[in-house]
Amino acid sequence: MALLRIRKYPDDVLKQPARPVENIDGSLNSFVESMTQTMYAAPGVGLAAPQVGDSRRIIVLDTDHENIGKHLLKLINPVIVEAEGSITWEEGCLSVVDFTADVERHAKVLVRAWTPDEKEIDIEATDLLAVALQHEIDHLDGRLFIDRISRIKRELYRRKRLKMIKEGKPDGKPPAAARI
Ligand code: NI
Repeated sequence: MALLRIRKYPDDVLKQPARPVENIDGSLNSFVESMTQTMYAAPGVGLAAPQVGDSRRIIVLDTDHENIGKHLLKLINPVIVEAEGSITWEEGCLSVVDFTADVERHAKVLVRAWTPDEKEIDIEATDLLAVALQHEIDHLDGRLFIDRISRIKRELYRRKRLKMIKEGKPDGKPPAAARI
């Protein structure tokens, strides 16, 4: 199984809203499996299809790397149907190298989605899973966590990032905080 290449800011694909998957059938399985392996290899707790250059509404998540696969979620067309409270979490992203920031999110969410085997499921989440679901669904809407921080911080990161690219060091280090 080949690992997929993770796109990094400022790749344009990360800004494009992803389109819903219209047919959930077996043809998705190998792609979703590649996404899953790419997430574990990174390692990251979540990965959205646009991060590997595919603009479809598909995400994979696993907040429990101690028990690989036990709590793995493979979600197609996920939607937040209820959200409440607020929580601040230090977020990092596999597509945003060398940077983390505190981001405010809903503390609790109810997400409805389809699984690759065509079951509709509801997921109630708090803490890291709630944060990760909101972060990944943001990816599907063409939004990164740096779009949720102050303009000044975002601009400083943008400059740092462009400098890295200019100096021929585009890969940087993986983020130290939650890699979502
Ligand atoms: Ni991310």
